[in-house]
Amino acid sequence: MDEIITTQPSPQHWFGMVYLLIFGAGIGFFLLSFIALGVLPGLRLAKTIASHTQTDMPDYTAAELRGRQVYASLGCALCHTQQVRFILPDVLRWGAPTEAWETRYDFPQLWGTRRIGPDLARETGVRSDDWQLTHLYHPQSIVPDSVMPSYNE
Ligand code: HEC
Repeated sequence: MDEIITTQPSPQHWFGMVYLLIFGAGIGFFLLSFIALGVLPGLRLAKTIASHTQTDMPDYTAAELRGRQVYASLGCALCHTQQVRFILPDVLRWGAPTEAWETRYDFPQLWGTRRIGPDLARETGVRSDDWQLTHLYHPQSIVPDSVMPSYNE
């Protein structure tokens, strides 16, 4: 009688393939986290910006662009932020929270991460030009214990 030869792989064979399963799962989880943590929040942000953006937001003027350059090159962002957060103490002190569209022309953005000095996003119109000039020239003549350096060269 002829013997029926089965070609079933042995359990050892399948066990040897486990690394493939782990490899596939690794790629799967990588893709999942890429989509969940990168792509989806990005789409949501783009949607929020589109629905809140002021359509008539003018381009920066030449003076404003120069101001951005000076602000970046003198390292003001090392001590100042330009983003009012959505938390009560921020709003009480500086006003309306910063919305995404406000900085949509800023690349690179200058939001800053440290607040050695106050937030400057809503600084416009808070002080007079004379105050600002004197303060930049020599901060300690206005705020005696200020740690802000003088910009008078
Ligand atoms: C070493 C940290 C530091 C750096 C760098 C710095 N500042 Fe300041 N700044 C401060 C501190 C602290 C205060 C709060 C005390 C004061 O008013 O001087 C302040 C206050 C200010 C204020 C007043 C805000 C208000 O209405 O009370 C303005 C405007 C300002 N800084 C602008 C700038 C600009 C522009 C630059 C870059 C040219 C700059 N700062 C760089 C620390 C810094």
